[in-house]
Parts: sequence; C-alpha cells; structure tokens
Amino acid sequence: MAETEIEFNPNVDQNVIVLDEHDTIDQCASAYGDRLAEWYEAHKLIVLPYWKLNTDISFLQTLTLPDRMHKIGSANGIDGPMFELKGSSLVSRNPLYHLKLDLPIKVLIRDQIFAIFQQLRSDLRKLFPRYRMEEANITFRFSPVTAAPDSGRHVDVFGQSWPKHRLKLFLNMDTTPRIWRTSFDILRLLEVYREELRDISPNIDRNDFNVIVNERLGRVVPSHTIRYPTLSCIIGNGETVLHEVVSGNRMIAMEFAVDIDSMLNPDSYIGAVLPTHIRKFSMAGEVAS
Ligand SMILES: [Fe+2]
Repeated sequence: MAETEIEFNPNVDQNVIVLDEHDTIDQCASAYGDRLAEWYEAHKLIVLPYWKLNTDISFLQTLTLPDRMHKIGSANGIDGPMFELKGSSLVSRNPLYHLKLDLPIKVLIRDQIFAIFQQLRSDLRKLFPRYRMEEANITFRFSPVTAAPDSGRHVDVFGQSWPKHRLKLFLNMDTTPRIWRTSFDILRLLEVYREELRDISPNIDRNDFNVIVNERLGRVVPSHTIRYPTLSCIIGNGETVLHEVVSGNRMIAMEFAVDIDSMLNPDSYIGAVLPTHIRKFSMAGEVAS
C-alpha cells in the first residue's frame, strides 16, 4: 500500500497527525477513541492512511464525470434510486441518469455509490461516536482538479455561517495520490499575522473573515505538502485550516453538521472562539478593551 508522504515546512505549526494504519474502521475507532474529536476540534489535520471499503472500486476508478457534475452528491440524489414511479410512469431524479452511458452502467455506478456512501455514513459514526450530526452532503467528485498552479491557500467560504460544528473528510478514490498544501488554522493565523489582520472587528461574520484571510494571506502563508494515496483520507475542517488542492482526481468529500453541545469541547466551537481571538490580537480589540 502506498504511503502518505508529507513534506513538513518548519515555518508552519506541526498540525498534521498521521494515524497508524488499521484493517478496519472499528479498529481505528477503538485505537484512538475521543482523541479524533479532540484533534479535529483543535483544528488538526488527521490523515487516516487506509479506509477499507467493502466495494471494489476498480470500475469507478475508470469513471470521469463531466466538469459540470464535479461536486454533485447525496444532496443532489446521486445515491438515490435510478427510477421511481410517478403515477404509472418511470421517472429519474438521479443526476447520473443524464450521463451519456448505457443504462446498465449507470445503474451499476449508482449502486456502487450507494453501497460506498452507506458504509461511509456508518463508519463515520464509529470514528466520532459522540457527535450528534446530520449529513449535509457527501459529494462524489470524480473529475480532475482544475485549479491553477499556486492559486493560493484558502479557508472555505460558505453562503452563511453555520451555528454548527462542521465535520469534513476527504477520501482519495483515485489510483494516484492527491496532493494538498496545508497551512495554519485561522486562530493561529490571527496570532502569527497579527499585523496583517489588525483592523478586523471582533463582530465580523465568520465567512467575511475567511474572505479577508484568503485575499490577504492565501499566497503569503507557508505550507506543508501532503500526498495522500488511494483510499487514504484527510479529516480536517476546511473552514478553519488553510489548504489548497494542488492536484488530484477522484475523491469523495463528506460534510456533516454536528450539534455544538455534542462536541468533546463545545467551548472550542469556532463561532464562539473566533471573536475572542480577534479581540485578543487585533487593534479593534485593543481599542475596545
Ligand atoms: Fe477548500
């Protein structure tokens, strides 16, 4: 099995944790217990070196979805039935139905995605048993990454800030390693780049804060480089840890909304901690205090 390779940059925190390889998720879960939640909530990037799937993925590894479908997932019904009865007619709401492939192949793809998603849902609850969570989306990203070279590190920006703890996982499904650059989390960023972020108000919306971080520091921050092979996974909060996908092809991304009071340390919820950190390190905070 290929190994995860990491080039650590001494100018960035050692915030990447590589787990020992286990044959099953049950073994991994019992080996680490609550430490997974502890690390995740502390904005570490956790590399799970091997996620054993019960489905043979060699066929899926020949599939390339068109670019317009590069982020479709369970929220779009990709793992839903290929056909449903509407009155006396068969209808399909599954986006895979629109692929230009023979119908049996489309049904096979759908069935494999269904089986994999079901296993991942079940495994995820074993890895984070304390989390009371709802699935936001499991995306089936089977298109090559088209990011421009050195487009900069970023933290994810969403339409609105969630009153939830965001759990995110990125499982490489391709035959080749997926390559990421990763950097500081946004709390450390406020400390390390306090000059650049001095003018930010503690009352800023978290999404607006992330936009500013990306604009001002995306190309500035140093980074580690992580090459993670087939069926390895990065568990990391893209909303709080700077990252950049350098290259990669097939991937499944999972996103779950976790109730804050089910966190190991609810006080570490980013929505609560960020204003305090801004107040601590920014000029706005100095003026206000
Ligand atoms: Fe991202």
